[in-house]
Amino acid sequence: MHVLILGAAGMVGRKLVERLCSDAVIGGREITAMTLFDIVEPQKPVTAWPVSVRAGDIGERSDIDKLLLHKPDVIFHLAALASGGSEEDFDAGYRINLDGTRHLVEAIRAQNYCPRVVYTSSIAVFGAPFPDAIDDVFLSAPLTSYGAQKACSELLLADYSRRGLLDAIAIRLPTVIIRPGRPNRAASGFFSNILREPLIGREAVLPVSRDVCHWMASPRTTAGFLVHAASLDLTRLGDRRALTMPGISVSVGEMIESLKRIAGADRAALIRDEPDETIARIVDGWPRAFKTERALRLGFVADRSMDDIIRIHIEDELGGRLG
Ligand SMILES: NC(=O)c1ccc[n+]([C@@H]2O[C@H](COP(=O)([O-])OP(=O)(O)OC[C@H]3O[C@@H](n4cnc5c(N)ncnc54)[C@H](O)[C@@H]3O)[C@@H](O)[C@H]2O)c1
Repeated sequence: MHVLILGAAGMVGRKLVERLCSDAVIGGREITAMTLFDIVEPQKPVTAWPVSVRAGDIGERSDIDKLLLHKPDVIFHLAALASGGSEEDFDAGYRINLDGTRHLVEAIRAQNYCPRVVYTSSIAVFGAPFPDAIDDVFLSAPLTSYGAQKACSELLLADYSRRGLLDAIAIRLPTVIIRPGRPNRAASGFFSNILREPLIGREAVLPVSRDVCHWMASPRTTAGFLVHAASLDLTRLGDRRALTMPGISVSVGEMIESLKRIAGADRAALIRDEPDETIARIVDGWPRAFKTERALRLGFVADRSMDDIIRIHIEDELGGRLG
């Protein structure tokens, strides 16, 4: 089976590549070739099968046409301009996040075959006011450009699937924490920063109050969602091809308690409260909890606890020891 990953150099993309290289199969079918695509050239992993790495722009239809010439069996579409970037640069957001998806579905249609497409959507397709927990029939009414682009892409993929032009599933990811690497400027960045930085002995800033709750999943579990989505019998989804992924709803206070349990109170003391009204207002508009019965019935499995999410980071990013 030939696997194509768009956005392979990103955080989730790299986790997915690692996972596929270690599994060597998807749903029992052997991986025989891999193409990794991103605006920056992805790193080439060591594998038993041929890997082609390509730098290109999903906003350019001709770049996507070239990728489809070999008719990959499974396409993971992760390439995106993140929420902050799409809000700041209206044109770039629509070009990458919506035109990019349109280019992909049209390039597949031009090849006249029906691959599996796994698309990383987001809980940003939902907009306030929210119930206490958002269920599987809650309407998609985004309040950001990023959320609108994700919702439009979901609709495109569902319609092309209904017409038998491809076989897609859109999985709405929780916020993925703990994000490895340096702190970034995303409004949600502090959820990762307040754990990742103290775990390596550095200070972190907490811009919101400790009772803020959020919906989260670890990078390892997220890669698991993608692999599961690639092998699922999608007739079980009917025509509703978008699915909210299970996660855990945890408050910042509970995150800090977990950090204390696993790394000690001295590490947790490295978190400095520095309220930021802008971030607090943005975060206030985000969903906090979901009831994801559909995804659970289809076999998607969430992380068990915040303690587990921290342990996963220590195992996968810190070689099993505190930095
Ligand atoms: N990380 C999260 O918490 C989260 C939550 C919900 C949904 N998602 C979605 O999951 C996917 C992966 O997220 P991530 O955290 O790895 O993001 P990321 O920003 O680390 O990765 C996205 C990748 O897309 C690439 N990209 C951007 N513009 C491109 C273009 N014009 N052409 C080709 N590639 C381009 C980037 O270079 C980057 O490597 C994205 O679609 C994101 O919207 C992520």
